[in-house]
Amino acid sequence: MDRTFIIIKPDAVEKQYTGKILAHIEKEGFQIIGLRMLQLDRGMAEAFYAVHKERPFFDSLVSFMISAPVVVGALLAPDAVSKWRNLIGATDPAEAADNTIRKLYAESKEKNAVHGSDSDETAKAEIAFFFENGLALRAEN
Ligand code: CMP
Repeated sequence: MDRTFIIIKPDAVEKQYTGKILAHIEKEGFQIIGLRMLQLDRGMAEAFYAVHKERPFFDSLVSFMISAPVVVGALLAPDAVSKWRNLIGATDPAEAADNTIRKLYAESKEKNAVHGSDSDETAKAEIAFFFENGLALRAEN
């Protein structure tokens, strides 16, 4: 079994899509093994997205990510990283396939409803960013 990390972003939380997105996640066979709602501050958002800090959209992305609460979570499934990326769809919802979470719930390339880790290594680091012990003490079967 593998893990990935997710964020339900401020746009989706504000529109009250959290429950629908979590139900979609469970219907697709993921086990939710960690979940928190919190409001990011600027320092946390800048640190989380540090890899994008030279991008032209960085300041706007950080402002968006601190504009309202987010829900962060960890999911368990075989090939969780690629399975979740397939389920969320393209970054730009206009290019996302039917029935993907971004097609259903996102409004723009920036306000794109959800985040997913891009590799197993990133997933580990992103889970550790938000969860004590990186959920290392959790028994999984
Ligand atoms: P995410 O998967 O969280 O990773 C980086 C985020 O930056 C991405 O989702 C979008 O929210 C945002 N992003 C990526 N490309 C663009 C863009 N061209 N313009 C605005 N925001 C973007």
